[in-house]
Amino acid sequence: MRLLVTGGCGFIGTNFIRLMRSAHPDWSIVNLDLLTYAGNRLSLADLEAEDQGYRFEHGDIRDPKLVSSLLEEHHIEAVVNFAAESHVDRSIDNPAPFISTNVQGAQTILECARRAGLARVVHISTDEVYGTLGPQGLFTESTPLAPNSPYSASKAGADLLCRAYVETYGMDVVVTRCSNNYGPYQFPEKLIPLMYLKAQAVEPLPVYGDGMNIRDWIYVDDHCRGVELALTKGRPGGIYNFGGNAEKTNLDVVRSMLSILDRNENLITFVTDRPGHDRRYAMDFALAAEELGFEPSLDFSQGLRKTVEWYKNNTDWLETVQSGEYRRFMGTWYEERS
Ligand code: NAD
Ligand code: TYD
Repeated sequence: MRLLVTGGCGFIGTNFIRLMRSAHPDWSIVNLDLLTYAGNRLSLADLEAEDQGYRFEHGDIRDPKLVSSLLEEHHIEAVVNFAAESHVDRSIDNPAPFISTNVQGAQTILECARRAGLARVVHISTDEVYGTLGPQGLFTESTPLAPNSPYSASKAGADLLCRAYVETYGMDVVVTRCSNNYGPYQFPEKLIPLMYLKAQAVEPLPVYGDGMNIRDWIYVDDHCRGVELALTKGRPGGIYNFGGNAEKTNLDVVRSMLSILDRNENLITFVTDRPGHDRRYAMDFALAAEELGFEPSLDFSQGLRKTVEWYKNNTDWLETVQSGEYRRFMGTWYEERS
């Protein structure tokens, strides 16, 4: 299979490319990435240097000429679209880039794929398009879309465009919606790597609101295997939920991190809540289990220890990715909340 992966220098894209290059040495992968503040070419530098089946292309998914020329030049058969602005807090600070990349960029991919007569597009979406749950119940694929943040609204917009391309043009588009990922290469603006950094530095760990918001955590490799299954076995036009069977309050997550790093819980600092903060996410992934054979393999405590080990062994990576832009946003965002 000749694949175009977009956003492959981000967290999940990097793990996906690594997994696919080792599971399918006969596939070739072109990675199109704009290298925003969240994209790091370094994360795949070893593949770039040594792997004939991997190629990096610097560019924007919103550029139809570039996307079309890559599809043609590399005889691409399928696209997996990870590229996105992905941080909820940044979408609250400034929604415009989210609409531009997540909606317009997704439409550009769909349109170029349509014109090229591509076999399949897999679009990577999120559980956040469903909005929030009360204490009971799970999101299924037929839960109505009710996004609450500019990020999740932009992701829901792209999901609806995927639907439109299936219904209007009969295209083969598969949408995957996954819960919160964690693992190696996650950018340290998201909860788990941020709390790792703070705990290591013995600095206050900023917990929004009462810390009782719940997320369903999945180890990134389990999500990537789900994407592989959606790509190879998904039903045309199918939508699949993926989850980790690991509902945790944010306080549980932060306490687990402090315990692994042997730090005192008095580092936990409650700060002003995120506006529009979804209370609970939890996934019913029975459809993906039945149709694709999807099942998460790693439990949360194993996965968190593995993740912490990775960050401990990759301090250079952590240092490199904290660009000036990263420091600027983190400085003002948390100053306003404390
Ligand atoms: P990330 O922010 O780590 O990486 C995003 C990547 O996209 C970066 O490499 C960035 O440079 C690239 N990019 C951004 N704009 C681009 C553009 N216009 N053109 C080309 N490349 C561009 O994100 P992530 O956490 O790896 O998430 C990947 C995808 O998975 C996103 O679509 C996200 O919505 C979805 N998702 C993430 C999670 C999660 O927990 N992280 C959960 C469910 C779904
Ligand atoms: P995050 O990793 O940003 O993912 P998402 O918002 O996509 O779920 O946040 C996970 C949870 O952690 C969410 O409920 C917000 C909370 N959170 C904090 O309490 N403090 C923080 O500094 C961050 C970044 C997140």
